[in-house]
This record gives sequence, structure tokens and C-alpha cells, in this order.
Amino acid sequence: MRSFVLQKFLRRWNPYVGCYARLYSRIVLGIETSCDETGAAIVDEHGNVLGEGLHSQLDVHLQNGGVIPHIASYLHKENIHNVVTTALRQSKFALTDVSAISVTTRPGLASSLVVGLEYAKGLVKESGKPLIPIHHMEAHGLTVRMVEDIAFPFLVLLASGGHCQIAWVQNVEEFLLLGTSLHNSPGEVIDKIARRLKLQNLPECYDMSGGRAIEHVAKGGNHLAFNFPCTMIMHRDCNFSFSGFGSYAAAIIENQERCYDVPPDGVIPSARDFCASLQYGIALHLLHRVSRAIAFCEAKKWVPSDNKILVFSGGVACNSFIRAILKSFCSTVGFRLTCPPPKLCTDNGIMIAWNGMEKLKEDVGIVLDPETVFTDSNCPLGKDMTNEVKKAAIKVRYKKIEADIETDVEALREGCKA
Ligand code: KG4
Ligand code: ZN
Repeated sequence: MRSFVLQKFLRRWNPYVGCYARLYSRIVLGIETSCDETGAAIVDEHGNVLGEGLHSQLDVHLQNGGVIPHIASYLHKENIHNVVTTALRQSKFALTDVSAISVTTRPGLASSLVVGLEYAKGLVKESGKPLIPIHHMEAHGLTVRMVEDIAFPFLVLLASGGHCQIAWVQNVEEFLLLGTSLHNSPGEVIDKIARRLKLQNLPECYDMSGGRAIEHVAKGGNHLAFNFPCTMIMHRDCNFSFSGFGSYAAAIIENQERCYDVPPDGVIPSARDFCASLQYGIALHLLHRVSRAIAFCEAKKWVPSDNKILVFSGGVACNSFIRAILKSFCSTVGFRLTCPPPKLCTDNGIMIAWNGMEKLKEDVGIVLDPETVFTDSNCPLGKDMTNEVKKAAIKVRYKKIEADIETDVEALREGCKA
């Protein structure tokens, strides 16, 4: 178990952290280029971030109306050297001081992943350090262990711009996949809806991701104003589908624009209620699938009575309304919800460095010959248990779940607990 007293001490005496780590701790350099963030970081065994470089391509992709792979790849190439150098310089370490280099190799945009991997291979050749290939979603799932003492096993819900998955995490390497998105991801749908709403035209939202803009606009809105249909209600599994949100949203926005004669660059007057309702709809869909996953794990007798944890991570986990709904539900079933801080929920090099450190500590997934490592843009997460979940066909009483959290939801709406 990590010493939190020691960590506190180290954070307070930040200038000396480098010196401490050099003497007593291994350090890992992590590199992330799977989508639209070029990230690098140095972390030590205790979860201290010694240096970080991060270059976001968000502004470019906002102008283009989404991520265009060859532009993302070009921007990674442009920025990777600077980002890695910044992380090393901040840490006051040289490449020769690191114990290993970890890099995202799967899943993600093929042309983006390869930029990070090739750069990491170059560093490995230059330094002779071992390489640790990282699964991007596993890294999202384990980031929380860097900031909190969470023991295995636990349940993890990952919702991002590329994926939505729920998995039982047995250890650093073993993830059992209970449910996954059948179509698109929640982040992708939210971003599309934000674009269709033209939220970028609101001065306070112009540089925000779609998800952040939706959360910002939703503040104080009525989450019951628009009734987003519950999806997959009849499917007794833990899979997700967000495409219905996209088509329902498009129809409502079109209708509202017509009713209120909204100009081409204008935003519908009901945007606040609309965004609040969208967040609520997505939160309920996640909640329904999580409730079955918890019931499945309990039925399997996997859940230790003294460690009932749901970890929520990935970019969409930045959303404090969705977090609050999941937290409320968890408390009704004896679980505790925990999430990394928002800065660590979105893509960054820190989570890749930390996942590398976790593997280094366990002595797993360390590669000595970098030429044997390749990217895999569609790599699934863990062992597929989704059919077993389907076969178990566990019935969940959604209405009761919604009634149980109603008071908390009302309080949230009134801003009492926001
Ligand atoms: O994990 P992430 O940084 O990248 C991927 O691995 O895909 O997730 C990015 C996604 C984007 O779709 C973004 O709109 C969404 O996370 N996001 C949010 C919020 N902040 C970012 N979604 C909802 N609420 C937020 N506050
Ligand atoms: Zn991600």
C-alpha cells in the first residue's frame, strides 16, 4: 500500500521530489497520441507527477467539425518532440534516468497511434530502456489508483469520445468486459449534438469540447423538459447504444428552430433545458447498464463485501451531473463511486505513464525488443464476457432505481448539491 503521508510530504516539498525519486523510486515516461491529444508525462511509483507536456488539438478539430485523422496525425508529429521534452525538463530527469517508456499502442486512430509508437521506439533505441505498450482504455480505468488507494477488484465504467465500456477489473492486466457500446460512443454523440446546437457560437463555449459546452449550458435547466427515450430497455445485458440520442436530438432541435424562427447561426432558446434533458437521458442509460453489471457481479460473488467500488472514467466522466446521478445510485446499493479528477479523465500522458508504472511494479507487459510491438486501432478491452451477461438475463427494476434517486436528482436540479 502506498504511503499517503509520504505522498503529502512529497507534494509539499515539490522541488525535492526529483531528488527523492532519483534515490528511492523508479520513474516512467508515458506517451499518448491515440486521438487528438499529444501527451507525455513522468510519474514515480507513488503517483507523483514529476513532469508533464500536453498539446491539445481541440481548437483545430472544433473548426473542422470533428477529428480528421490525417490532420490529427500531422499535429502529433509536429508536437510530440516538444511535449516529451517539456515533460522531461519539468521533471529535471534525463531520458537515461527513466526505468521504462510506456506508450499507447491500442485502440485509437491508426495514423495517430503510430506517431507515438515510432517516437517511443526511437527513444528506446537511444536509451536502451524497456518499452511498455499500453491499452488506452485500461489506462483510463486505472488512473484513479494513482490518486486514491483503490484495491482490486472493482467495477469500472469508461465513457469517452471513442468508447463506452463496463468491465470488472481483477488486476493490472485482467479486465472482464461486461458491456460495450454497440454503435457509437457517448462523447461522439454529445459532440455531434453540441455542433448541431451551434453551442460554439456562444462566446463562453467557443473553445470548449462538445461535452463541456453541454454541461455548461445545462446548468440550472429542467432535465425533464425533453423526454429522451430510454434505449435498450428490453435488452437484458450491459451493452450501450447512443445513436437514438443523436436522432432524437436532431428532430427536437429542428422542430425548435422552426417554432422559434432561429437564425442560421443562432442557438434555440430552450438550449438550457435541452442540454439538461440530454445529460439526464445519458446518465439514466449509463445507470441502467451499471445497475445490471453490479447485479451480475454480485450474483457471481465477485464483489468483496469490504470493497464495493465503481470507478467512472474517460472524458464523459468529467460531467458532474452524470457523476452525481451515478453516485446517488451507488449509495442505494452499498457501492462507492470514485472518479479521477476531471483533468485526468480526458486524454493525457499521465495516465499512460501511470499504467506503465503499474505494469513495471507487477513485472508484466514489459517488452525488451521494440521491433515486436505494433499498433492495433480496434483492440477490444479485456476478456469478452458480454454473452455470459446476456445469458444470465438479469432483470433490473429501472423504475424503482429511478424512484430511489429521485430526491437527489431534484436537489441537483435546484442546485443544492451541484
Ligand atoms: O477520454 P477522452 O478525452 O478522449 C477519448 O478517449 O475519446 O474523451 C473525450 C470526450 C469528448 O467527446 C468530450 O466532449 C467528452 O469527452 N467530454 C465531456 C465532458 N468533458 C469532455 N462529456 C460530457 N461532459 C463533460 N463535462
Ligand atoms: Zn480517452
